[in-house]
Amino acid sequence: MTVTIVGSQLGDEGKGGIVDLYGDDADVVARYQGGDNAGHTVVHEGEEYKLSLVPSGAIRGKVGVLGNGCVVNPRTLFDELDTLRERGLEPDVRVAERAHVILPFHRVLDGIEEDVKSETDLEAATTGRGIGPTYEDKAGRRGVRVGDLLDGDVLRERLEYVVPQKTALLEEVYGVDVADLDDPEAFDVDAVYEEYREFGRRLDSEGMTVNAGRFLTDAMADGRNVMLEGAQGTSIDIDHGIYPYVTSSNPTAGGACTGTGLGPTVVGDGEVIGIVKAYLSRVGTGPLPTELGGVEGHTPGYDPADPGPDADLAEYIREEGGEYGTVTGRPRRVGWLDMPMLRHAHRVSGFTGLAINHLDVLAGLDEVQVGHSYTLDGEELRTMPATTEEWGRCEANLRAFAGWDDVDWASVAEEGYEALPDNAKAYVEYVEDQLDTPAYAIGVGPGRGETIVRERPF
Ligand code: IMP
Repeated sequence: MTVTIVGSQLGDEGKGGIVDLYGDDADVVARYQGGDNAGHTVVHEGEEYKLSLVPSGAIRGKVGVLGNGCVVNPRTLFDELDTLRERGLEPDVRVAERAHVILPFHRVLDGIEEDVKSETDLEAATTGRGIGPTYEDKAGRRGVRVGDLLDGDVLRERLEYVVPQKTALLEEVYGVDVADLDDPEAFDVDAVYEEYREFGRRLDSEGMTVNAGRFLTDAMADGRNVMLEGAQGTSIDIDHGIYPYVTSSNPTAGGACTGTGLGPTVVGDGEVIGIVKAYLSRVGTGPLPTELGGVEGHTPGYDPADPGPDADLAEYIREEGGEYGTVTGRPRRVGWLDMPMLRHAHRVSGFTGLAINHLDVLAGLDEVQVGHSYTLDGEELRTMPATTEEWGRCEANLRAFAGWDDVDWASVAEEGYEALPDNAKAYVEYVEDQLDTPAYAIGVGPGRGETIVRERPF
């Protein structure tokens, strides 16, 4: 069977910890979208590993698959694999032949477009990893796929078509000379060919490339459990998120089908778990109706000289929750839990269970609030509107919950749900009730053992 893990908010909901927890019962862990923009930290036998592309299950002896919906930067892939091997692990990672390759010029163009957009209010605050430009080329039918790296003639033909176009874009649209770049070889067909053809040889000699759909179907036919791991979150989904402040793929459950080659009935026959952070955090620009305080350069209209009455509360949550980007180190914006966002996520992905994380971060506050609904133009809304402009005009209708004390969370996790402070239980039950979906797991600390496990989906 499959268990699909989906971020229900804006990314950074603590998916990694849940993948890690439930991944124990999985044999194969497959990512279905995104690339090396998905920072995750895994602690294994006392050692900390920071990864951005390799599925975390690969550290624990599972087979990791990068599905066809992913965009793969082979430099990052082999860097991460080499580092893991130097540290004594033997990761088994397979890459879909149909996945697209992030090439050096994609990263350069990502940075330049963000610079240009910073003059406008369209800047998405990307991770700068070349994700958007690579998906653009995929949709534009001019991309290079992992399978192409294995065939020198095909690779050269693709590069000879695409590189001159990118050079023209750089020089004629953005007015930047290739010669002035830090890495002018990013736009040199021969240099890119040599490096990426070598990656192809390595992928081939290590037997790493697969037809993802067939590989996963065969694994299930052999009775193996497959976890489908989404990166990022629903509200930064290219279709269902707060466009244009989104990533360029589908983190929602439909992406698990198109991004692996498994049909919707196969994925729907398994479980789909929505990962919920007990409050909101956000890297990037655009509106955020339940935001507390703000972050310079990201919160629209934020004035650091007048950060507003909730700035201290925001700072408290940011510090307690360690809300700084794993890939970029940037401070994240924070806000109260947003129920219209969660109802929208539930409708898009059809969650069968929830994991509610970081409940401990809110401990010690007198009162915890949630955005229960919005008011837009005098009307109450229970889910997110379809345009980001409308979302920006939504006012959150807050509901207050009595806070809970900071307790010994490790022993709460060990004793189970009944040991949770009553006020924290009321908060969890409100979320379950609103989404009509049970919380399978409740995260009460960063450690692997600090999760109350009520249900094991495999
Ligand atoms: P990109 O994915 O690098 O193109 O960035 C597009 C948007 O998605 C930006 O607002 C990023 O901050 C956001 N984003 C991308 N990956 C993550 C993630 O793993 N967690 C949270 N936000 C992310």
